[in-house]
Order: sequence, then structure tokens, then C-alpha cells
Amino acid sequence: MTVLTDPRLKALVFLLAALISRPAVADGKTCNLPNFNTTTQGRVQELKPFSLPCFSNYNGQPVASNRAACASIQRDYFNPWARTDGANGYMNSQDEMCSSEPHNQCLLDNSNPANSTAYTNTTCRQGDLPSHYLEIQRVEDVIEAFKYAHCSGTKLSIKNSGHDYLGRSSGKDTLALWTRNLRSTNYSPDFVPSGCSARHNAITVGSGINFDEAYAFAEKNNVTLIGGYAPTVGVSGGWVQGGGHSILSPVYGLGIDRVVEYKIVTPDGHYRIANECQNPDLFWALRGGGGGTFGVVMESTHRVEPQIRLVAASIKFPQSPTNVLPFLDIVVNHTLQWAAEGWGGHITGNTLVNVSPLLSVSEAKKSLSEVVAYAESQGGSAVVEEFPSWYPFYEKYVTSGAVGVGVTHFVGTRLVPKAVFETAEGRQNLMGFFALLLEQGQSPYIPVVGPVLYDYLEGSTSATPAWRSAVWETGVGASWAWNATLKERKEKISIMKDMTALFARITPRSGAYASEASPFTVDWREAWWGDNYEELVSIKNKYDPFDLLSCWKCVGWTEGQSDSSCFSAFV
Ligand SMILES: Cc1cc2nc3c(=O)[nH]c(=O)nc-3n(C[C@H](O)[C@H](O)[C@H](O)COP(=O)(O)OP(=O)(O)OC[C@H]3O[C@@H](n4cnc5c(N)ncnc54)[C@H](O)[C@@H]3O)c2cc1C
Ligand SMILES: *[C@@H]1O[C@H](CO)[C@@H](O)[C@H](O)[C@H]1NC(C)=O
Ligand SMILES: *[C@@H]1O[C@H](CO)[C@@H](O)[C@H](O)[C@H]1NC(C)=O
Ligand SMILES: *[C@@H]1O[C@H](CO)[C@@H](O)[C@H](O)[C@H]1NC(C)=O
Ligand SMILES: *[C@@H]1O[C@H](CO)[C@@H](O)[C@H](O)[C@H]1NC(C)=O
Ligand SMILES: *[C@@H]1O[C@H](CO)[C@@H](O)[C@H](O)[C@H]1NC(C)=O
Ligand SMILES: *[C@@H]1O[C@H](CO)[C@@H](O)[C@H](O)[C@H]1NC(C)=O
Repeated sequence: MTVLTDPRLKALVFLLAALISRPAVADGKTCNLPNFNTTTQGRVQELKPFSLPCFSNYNGQPVASNRAACASIQRDYFNPWARTDGANGYMNSQDEMCSSEPHNQCLLDNSNPANSTAYTNTTCRQGDLPSHYLEIQRVEDVIEAFKYAHCSGTKLSIKNSGHDYLGRSSGKDTLALWTRNLRSTNYSPDFVPSGCSARHNAITVGSGINFDEAYAFAEKNNVTLIGGYAPTVGVSGGWVQGGGHSILSPVYGLGIDRVVEYKIVTPDGHYRIANECQNPDLFWALRGGGGGTFGVVMESTHRVEPQIRLVAASIKFPQSPTNVLPFLDIVVNHTLQWAAEGWGGHITGNTLVNVSPLLSVSEAKKSLSEVVAYAESQGGSAVVEEFPSWYPFYEKYVTSGAVGVGVTHFVGTRLVPKAVFETAEGRQNLMGFFALLLEQGQSPYIPVVGPVLYDYLEGSTSATPAWRSAVWETGVGASWAWNATLKERKEKISIMKDMTALFARITPRSGAYASEASPFTVDWREAWWGDNYEELVSIKNKYDPFDLLSCWKCVGWTEGQSDSSCFSAFV
């Protein structure tokens, strides 16, 4: 007979055992926010909404507004730099607001940010924003954050530039790990991934570096980084981990084709190098499996090219109710030819800005002659010119041409495979889709970014294999005004869902770029990752055994998880 037969003693032993194994006592420190804050040098802060200084009530409590700070927010409301440089700055309002609860937000009037009605006698609410953030400076910060999340049950999010269209860099009640201030840059003409022997001409950037900074750094070193069409999108975060397209991708591949090494803190608490020779499973997962899932990337290394001479074409004409479809008809009929000629770029209903590193100016003029003639016949204009390298093209076209921010803007795109352009039926379907879009008052938006000429090593990346036969990415958008009612929001999303379903039917067996896909995609596992999904889940479980990282339709996410609440009205 042992003492354990006494039920009270049994309970006591059980309690003691629970206390000993309880992770609440991490490294001898009690698991609470003040202690975590001390461990991280006081860098844990409450996260206040971007537009709060304009309001005099915050979450139901009176607060003092700040006229000067408000004026500067009103002035910079659409400036991506003002947003990306702060922990609370998001490009798209759906990342700030709780979309399912119209009054749960802290927004200005996006048709006129100076309109004081938006913030007078109105409560500024937290929406879907994190409650706190930690500015990441060191590897130990991330390790401590994972420990703290594990012992306290606090949910985490990772916030870099705040461009995510699916709300995956914010999240109600989360602690945001904010990476913008990791800003190292290094150029090495003979970079060797740790433990490997191959050498690469490569640039390494800290996770906070964005394209504007990386392009300037590459130019200074006389090389070309293949990257996105927006100055403030981050290089190492959601862009590269999710796929990462460039208008140079048709010739030089996607971001995931060019990354050669990551340094990352995984949620199991280890700082790791991931490349082809070390943790190759993790490296594969980080080449398309998506941001916010496998750990916090601290830096990434990307192969670069020498300076690339480019020919660029900019075509535009004033839009009329009848002149867009004939323009798109010419575009659709020439797409396969243009793909073979190395063209990449962006086409809308009445504009085209494309580049090719493979053509001379006279070849380019010949290639585009029909579309140029059409634009001119509509009172438009065309410029076809040569650039000695990417950077002057970037300065002339990209800095002014990026997609607008400070608005609610969902995108629902899908990859359009070559096969669609190869048959009369496929081309007709596309034209029919564009006709429908125009009827709804939307403008077609076509990134020509499929890696059509890139010599892909089969199986080397984990994004949807549909990329490898894609020429275009296109689809629909949805947006609503700052003060839209729930009914209006539901209508917009419902139209987007119908249109993306329709578009999926005319792009059969294709998939979508998860970072620019509809958040309401039903077959998201299949569409965003195809056959790679199950393997990605097992890698996720290996490096994040306690499921400390979770985001909307990220690998391992399941329907009905609590982080879905702000989209719950639309599913
Ligand atoms: C105006 C605009 C222009 C765009 N242009 C392009 C383009 O030209 N090409 C293209 O391919 N895409 C483009 N995108 C899409 C863009 O690549 C995605 O929104 C991408 O997710 C942004 O990544 P981020 O790290 O900059 O942003 P964030 O919103 O901060 O993060 C995005 C996701 O990555 C995760 N994440 C961020 N940092 C890390 C990190 N260090 N470690 C692990 N996870 C991290 C976040 O948790 C989140 O899930 C554009 C988007 C916008 C709004
Ligand atoms: C963390 O500590 C700093 C410095 O003491 C302090 O300013 C900050 O308010 C603390 N954060 C929280 C969430 O209490
Ligand atoms: C401000 O917004 C309100 C709606 O809330 C609108 O009625 C009013 O016309 C707007 N004023 C200006 C100057 O834009
Ligand atoms: C705001 O509320 C106060 C008190 O209810 C009222 O006196 C004032 O007229 C209101 N202002 C506006 C612009 O609605
Ligand atoms: C820059 O690179 C180009 C192409 O690789 C080369 O011709 C040129 O000499 C380089 N310029 C400098 C200053 O190194
Ligand atoms: C495009 O090709 C279709 C046949 O698939 C043809 O009917 C149409 O006239 C062509 N359009 C242009 C502008 O050449
Ligand atoms: C929303 O605000 C705009 C001004 O930005 C105004 O014209 C419109 O009437 C408002 N809509 C609702 C539903 O209040």
C-alpha cells in the first residue's frame, strides 16, 4: 500500500507534476508580458491603429486627439512609405478593419482623408489589428517570443511591410513580430550557401529590406536583383516565400527560383540555415509554401544577374466604352508570340507597360506594331525605348506605377496557362471573361509574369506547379468604401467569389499565386499548392510542433480556426 492511494495526496502529486512540466516557468522566469518585455529589452509595445491620432475615442474610452499627427496622417494616407515604416501600417484596409463588423475599425474617409466626419464622434476600434508588437532586432528576440507564445498561449503574427491582401500579417489579439528594422545588405559575387559548394553571384538582405532599398543596393553593386513591382514590398517575407513574381520572371524565373539560402528561427526555438545542403526540406517549404508559416526569416540570399539591357514599351490610350475589348483581343492573340520574345509587364484595359531583355528596339517595335497602331488609332500614344539596366526603368515606371494603397482592396487572381491561348475556345473564354468584367465596371489587370522561358528544375520549389505552364496572372478585384455596410461588403465579396469561380472554370487544372488569390477560395489547398500540400503540412508539423504560427489559409490551417473571425461573414 502506498501513500498514493490517498486521493488528496494523489491530487497533490498530480499538481506538482503539472507545475514542474508546465512551460509557464521559462528559464526560471514567470511567463507574463512584463517579464517577456524585460527579456526583449522593453521592445514590446501596444499596437495603436494608424489613424488613431485623429480620433478622440479609442475602444470606447475618451482619448486626446493630436491635430498635427492627424494632419500628417491625412496628408500621407495613400503613401506606402508612411505605412510600411510603422508596426501599425498596412497597405490594404482589410488588414486593419474587422471586415465582418463594419464599426470595428479605425479608418479615415478614403475618398477624402481630410473629411472630419469620419473621425468626429466616432470610436476608433482595433479591428483585426494585433494588440501588441515586438520590434525584432536579434535572433534571441524571436526565440524568446516563441517561448512566450508557447507558455502563455498568446497568438503570434509576423508583420514586415504590411502588403498582404489576405490579412495574414495582422490578426486580432496577436503579438506581431515586426521585422522592418532588420536592414542588413550584403553583396557577394561568389556566395557559397553554407555547407554547399556551388557559388552564386548573390545579394543577402535582412528581412526588413524592401525592393526600393534592394534595387538601389543592387545598382550600387552593378548587378540586377529580380523582384516585385512595388517599392515597399519586402524581399524576404511573403513575396519570396510565397512565390514572388517579377516582370523579368518570364526570362529569369520567380523569386523562389532565385533564392539560395534563408536564415530563419523556427518555432521549435532553433536558429537555422536552410539551403539545398542544410535543412533542405525546410528550404523547399520556404520556396513557395508561404510566409508566416515555418518560422521568422531573418535574412535571405538571392542570385542576381549582371546589368541587363532592356527594351521597354509603354502604350496607353483614352478609354471609351467600346475600345477596350478590341485592344484586349489583339493582346490575347499575340500573347504566345510575346511570351516567346521574353516580354513581361502589366496590361490593363487601356495601358501596357512591358519589358523584354531579349529584343532590340526595332524588334520590339515590330513585335508590338499592331497594338501600337491600335492605341494610336484611339488617340493614344506609345513609347518604345531602351534602358541600359533595370534601375532607370524602375525609377521611370515602377516608383509611380505601383498599385494604390490606403484602400480596401481584395484580389482574386488565377494563373492563366499557355493552353488557354492555344485554342480559339480558350481565347474566346478569356474575351468573354473580360467583357463580363467591363460590364461590372472593373478594369482588367494582367501581370504578365509567368516564368515561360525559365529553365526550371522540376520539383525544386513548393508553390503550385501551375506556375510552370502559366503565362499570365489575372482575375478580379473587390473593394468597398471606408464606411460600407455589411450588406455592401457581402455583395462585393459575393461577386468576387462568383467571378473567381467562373475564371477557375476557364483555366482548368491551373492554380493561383496564394499571395494574390481570393481569400475566399474554397479549394485553396489544391489551387495554391497542388500536390505539394501534404508534404508542406508534414514539414510545418516538424518545425512548428506546437502550432505557434497560424494564418488565414496558410499551410496547416483548418476551417473554423479562431483567426478566421473577421472574414466569417463571407465564407
Ligand atoms: C501594392 C502591392 C504590390 C504588389 N506587387 C507584387 C509584385 O510585383 N510581385 C509579387 O509577387 N507580389 C506582389 N504583391 C504581393 C506581395 O508579394 C504579397 O502581399 C506579400 O505577401 C508581401 O510580403 P511582405 O513580407 O512584404 O508583407 P507582409 O504583409 O508584412 O507579410 C506577408 C506575409 O509574409 C509573412 N512574413 C513577413 N515577413 C516574414 C518573415 N520575415 N518571416 C516569415 N514570414 C514573414 C507574414 O506573416 C504574412 O503572412 C504586391 C502587393 C501589393 C499590396
Ligand atoms: C515594455 O517596456 C518598455 C520600457 O520599459 C515600456 O515603455 C513599454 O510600455 C512596455 N510594454 C508594455 C506592453 O508594457
Ligand atoms: C464626409 O463623409 C460624410 C459621410 O460620412 C459625407 O456625407 C460627406 O459628404 C463627406 N464630406 C466631405 C467633405 O467629403
Ligand atoms: C458630437 O457629439 C456632441 C455631443 O453629443 C455634439 O454636441 C456634436 O454636435 C457632435 N458633433 C458632430 C460633428 O456630430
Ligand atoms: C557593370 O557591369 C557591366 C555589365 O556586366 C560591365 O560592362 C561594366 O563594366 C560594369 N561597370 C562597373 C563600373 O563595374
Ligand atoms: C484574334 O483571333 C481570332 C481567332 O481566334 C480572330 O477571330 C480575331 O479576329 C483575332 N483578332 C485580331 C484583332 O486579330
Ligand atoms: C460613405 O461616405 C461617403 C463619403 O466618403 C458618402 O458619400 C456616403 O454616403 C457614405 N455612405 C454611407 C453608407 O454612409
